[in-house]
Amino acid sequence: MRRIVIAIDGYSACGKSSTAKEIAKQLGYSYIDSGAMYRAVTLYFLQNYVSLTDPIAVEKALKNIEIDFHPNSKTGANETYLNGIIVEDEIRKMEVSEKVSEVSALLEVRKMLVDQQRKLGKRKGVVMDGRDIGTVVFPQAELKIFMKADMHVRAERRQRELLEKEVMYDLQEILDNLQKRDEMDTSRKESPLRQAEDAHVVDTTHITFEEQVEEIIRLATSKMVQA
Ligand code: DC
Repeated sequence: MRRIVIAIDGYSACGKSSTAKEIAKQLGYSYIDSGAMYRAVTLYFLQNYVSLTDPIAVEKALKNIEIDFHPNSKTGANETYLNGIIVEDEIRKMEVSEKVSEVSALLEVRKMLVDQQRKLGKRKGVVMDGRDIGTVVFPQAELKIFMKADMHVRAERRQRELLEKEVMYDLQEILDNLQKRDEMDTSRKESPLRQAEDAHVVDTTHITFEEQVEEIIRLATSKMVQA
C-alpha cells in the first residue's frame, strides 16, 4: 500500500488532534500537530514580551525559535519542544489560547511554520492537523478531512480535556475563547480556515470518537490502495 498525506482541518476543539493521533497510531504514520507549532511560537512571544505590531521584533524573535517534536518515552506520542525544552502542557494553557489566533494571523509566522510543516510531510506517511493543511500546506494531500462539531459540545470536550490535566476553567470562558478563535481563524487575511473543495466533512457532534476514527481510517485505506 502506498503511503499518503492525511490533512485534517477544522474548527478549534472538534477533536482533530486526538483523532489524528489515533489514526497515525493505527496506520503507523507520524502525527504532526501544526497548532502546537503556532502555540509554541505564541509561548515564546509571551515569554519574551515580543510586540506583535513591531515587524522587526517579530522577525528577530522568529530567528531564535526552534520547534521540534520528540516521542514521549512511555506513550510514544509526539511532544512539542521549544528551543530544546518540553512545552507540551504549557502551550495548552489559556494564556496561550488567548493569544494564538493573533500570532497565527502574522504572515511571517505562517511562512516560517508552513515551510517547516512541508519539510515534515515530505516523506509521506503523515497525519497533520490544523486550519490550512489541506488548502495551503498540502493542497495535493491524498486525503483531506474537514472536522466540525456543535460549539457547546466542543466547549464541554475542551473543559474535560483541561480537567484531565487538572486545570479548571469556567465553561463560559472556554466558549468565549472558542468563539473568538473561530472568528479570527476564519476571517484573517492570511490562509483563513476554510473547507477545501475536495475535503470530506466529518461532523463529530453526534458520533463517538471510535466512529470518527473508523470513518477516516476507511477513507484513508481506500486512498492507500489506489495506484
Ligand atoms: O489546533 P489548535 O487549537 O491547537 O491551534 C491553535 C491556533 O493555531 C488556532 O486558533 C489557529 C492556529 N492555527 C493556524 O492558524 N493554522 C494551523 N495550521 C494550525 C493552527
